[in-house]
Parts: sequence; structure tokens; C-alpha cells
Amino acid sequence: MSGSAPAYPKLQRTGQAVPRKHRSAFTWRGVRLIFEPRVPNFAGITISAPTAGKDRRMADQVATNITWHEHSVNKDDRAKLNGHKGALLWFTGLSGAGKSTVANTVDHLLHQKGIHSFVLDGDNIRHGMNKNLGFSAEDRAENIRRIGEVGKLFVDAGIVTTTAFISPYRADRDAARALLDEGEFVEVYVKASLETCEDRDPKGLYKKARAGEIKGFTGIDDPYEAPENAEIVLDSDSKGIDELAGEVMTYLEEKGYFSA
Ligand SMILES: Nc1ncnc2c1ncn2[C@@H]1O[C@H](COP(=O)(O)OP(=O)(O)OP(=O)(O)O)[C@@H](O)[C@H]1O
Ligand SMILES: [Mg+2]
Repeated sequence: MSGSAPAYPKLQRTGQAVPRKHRSAFTWRGVRLIFEPRVPNFAGITISAPTAGKDRRMADQVATNITWHEHSVNKDDRAKLNGHKGALLWFTGLSGAGKSTVANTVDHLLHQKGIHSFVLDGDNIRHGMNKNLGFSAEDRAENIRRIGEVGKLFVDAGIVTTTAFISPYRADRDAARALLDEGEFVEVYVKASLETCEDRDPKGLYKKARAGEIKGFTGIDDPYEAPENAEIVLDSDSKGIDELAGEVMTYLEEKGYFSA
């Protein structure tokens, strides 16, 4: 398995129902090629996300009869009401690096300061919204895609949101970043060596991965692609939780997130 998220070709749908007798279709590398002589885009050929079957990817746009509805209360209005901006603090790092612990401490500090905040945490989300996803590269990509979308909604609602997911693949994190406006996505790299994390191993997962009981474990037999341009890098090998959380708060204060 490659370390990067699978690169999906750009998919396009016609949004038109074409009687079966007028079209022929076949699937090539997961992409549905539909020859639709009555639909004049792409010289009668439509590259389409399949609507059913094993070739359909969860991230594919399937619904077609949908229209974006502009809301009358916008993000600036909400920021003014709240007295602060929304942001998505995207914590990433190895299992055991300290993402959940630091994210929760930051959340607590934000709350004490009167900032509307919320934590989206990996294991918790996998109990509910993402309980149908595993740890294959594709499922990990879908897991992160959904978190990005949910995170964006939270930011639109004006909430300072922290996410605590390993999110090992750079492309997946960048895709989440791309959903948000400039400055709204703050990548927080919780940096800890594999040795430190294995030493902590609070869930006993590294032990199981070393024993071969868990396959595709990040850092053991699945890669972790460290951020190259994270807004914040936390040294979790040598600093304590409170100090690291303080660094995040200082960043937010200095960058003006605590004012509307
Ligand atoms: N900087 C640190 N100093 C001391 N202990 C830490 C530090 N960071 C994390 N820990 C401890 O390590 C353990 C793992 O931390 P945590 O659960 O936050 O990791 P995580 O990154 O969320 O891991 P996972 O991806 O498995 O959820 C916890 O017991 C936590 O208290
Ligand atoms: Mg965690």
C-alpha cells in the first residue's frame, strides 16, 4: 500500500438521465466512462462517478439535483456576535503523541476564556459518524474528508474547533485545509518520536502492532507523513501538556483569533 492517499481522477456528472438504449458504458480503473451521444459534453463522452457498485468511491459527488442555498447570516455576523473568529485547529501526529490531551486542554482554556469551542476526536468520531470506516488508505482518506467537512461547518458556525486525528497523509490534510478560507485552518503538528509514543502506548496499540496483531498501524507498518508547513509545531518529546497548550493559545492570541 502506498503512503499517499489514492489519487482520484476528476469526476464529472452530466446530471441527465439518458435512456439506457442511448448509452454504453464501461469502467476503467474505477472511473466510469459513459458514451452519451445525446449529451454534448466531452464529445459525447461523460466521465462519471458510478452511482452504485464496487467502483463507487465514498467521496464521489452523486446527487445532482441540488442547489446551494445562500444563508442570510454569514460568518462575519456570527464572529461579531461571538466576539471571536471560528477556526479549525487540526492536530496531527503519531498515536500517543498527545493530540487528544493537548487538544482537550486547549479546548478547556478556550472555554474558560469565553470562546465557543469544540473537540472532534478520532476515536469518538469512529464510534459514530465514521463507524463504517476502517484503516485502509481509502478509509483513512474518507475519515479525514468527513472530518474536514464537519470541521468546516463548525467553523462556519463560528466555533473554534480542534480535531485530534492521526491524519497521517499529507494530501488528506491539505484537502481539509483547502475547504476552508485563508487563516481558518491551523495545522498543529504534535511532534513526538516513535520511541516516545511507543513508550507511552496508553492503549497498548504499539505492542499489538509490533506483535502483528494490528496491521497497517501508523509509524509501524503504515507511514506518517509529517507536515512540512504546519502553523504550529509542538515538541511533545520534551515539553509537558500545559506548556504545549499554552503555545497554541499564544499563537491564537497573537494572530488575532480572539477578536471578531
Ligand atoms: N507532552 C507530553 N508529556 C507527557 N505525557 C504526554 C504528553 N503528550 C501526551 N502524553 C500522554 O501520552 C498519552 C497519549 O496521549 P494522547 O491520548 O493525547 O495521544 P493521541 O495523540 O491522542 O493518540 P491517539 O492517536 O492514539 O488518540 C496520554 O496518557 C498523555 O497523557
Ligand atoms: Mg487521541
